[in-house]
Amino acid sequence: MTILGIESSCDDTAAAVLRGQAGDAKVLSSVVMGQTALHANFGGVVPEIAARAHAEKLDHCVKQALDEADLGLGDIDAVAVTAGPGLIGGVVSGVMCAKGIALARGLPLYGVNHLAGHALTPRLTDHVTFPYLMLLVSGGHCQFLIVSGPDAFKRLGGTIDDAPGEAFDKVARLIALPQPGGPSIEQRAKAGDPKRFKLPRPLLDRAGCDMSFSGLKTAVLRQRDSLLVDGAMAAQDQADLAAGFQAAVVDVLAEKTRRALAEYAPLADVRSICVAGGVAANMAIRGALETVAQEIDAAFVAPPLALCTDNAAMIAYAALEQMASREPDGMALSARPRWPL
Ligand code: KG4
Ligand code: ZN
Repeated sequence: MTILGIESSCDDTAAAVLRGQAGDAKVLSSVVMGQTALHANFGGVVPEIAARAHAEKLDHCVKQALDEADLGLGDIDAVAVTAGPGLIGGVVSGVMCAKGIALARGLPLYGVNHLAGHALTPRLTDHVTFPYLMLLVSGGHCQFLIVSGPDAFKRLGGTIDDAPGEAFDKVARLIALPQPGGPSIEQRAKAGDPKRFKLPRPLLDRAGCDMSFSGLKTAVLRQRDSLLVDGAMAAQDQADLAAGFQAAVVDVLAEKTRRALAEYAPLADVRSICVAGGVAANMAIRGALETVAQEIDAAFVAPPLALCTDNAAMIAYAALEQMASREPDGMALSARPRWPL
């Protein structure tokens, strides 16, 4: 089976070609065309601009993915596309593009949940066996999932306000570091003392796996205001605040991962802890989760970064996983702005 995947639910236009089957698939190509520059002046992704850019780029992106795989449309056996959740203009653009290809070539068309794509990626990259714990942490998502089958996801908890990536981005803005905030805070934190400022670890005093990052951001804001001299921060203060913020996020994610495991312990056969999403690029977070995995003698799996962040290979792969147990959607497929797992 050779399958074309298409993803356009946020600010990356992506297409990929995979060959193989569930549990044993090879990525022949994976093209991601970002839009960071288009949104740079607006302090966030502008849905209308994103949708237009997807509509303009999708056909080029698909063509490039086919070229890099050294294949033509005639070699494709099925089409998979993100059908939600996401910014609806972008999702609609992807779904229309996928429908056009499927209709023209008479191919089966599968609509895939974007979160299922992230959640199943460790099976593509590391052949992880079910069930496993997945921590999905990005600019828009934050949840713990027990993944026990291609379409069997149990949500154990998630953020009640901001996603961690969003918090990294907002805090970076507060302390005058460039966007995206995650990498710039991680870099700056290396020169900082994480213990200098007392910052909260929200919701650690409450049972369960829900998380909160908005209060932490406000605490950083207050601390920053006390450090400003003529509207600017000293470089060391900035580094210490970046380090303190990152340490708080690390502590919350690690401790809530322990709780997620404890909550699931009655079923006890989770042998892998996996992460996905852009925030999974953070080495301090990876290190802390690896330690948690060691505590219970489980494997820690973080897919390579290009497959951790938004991409179309994960969408094609999720369809390969799910096609044994579901029918193609065909032309009845519709785009869904909200689609909880
Ligand atoms: O998964 P992703 O590329 O896009 C979505 O949000 O869907 O994730 C982007 C987010 C941004 O908020 C960015 O600041 C964060 O991931 N991020 C990081 C790091 N690299 C990217 N956060 C913490 N540490 C990093 N090294
Ligand atoms: Zn995503």
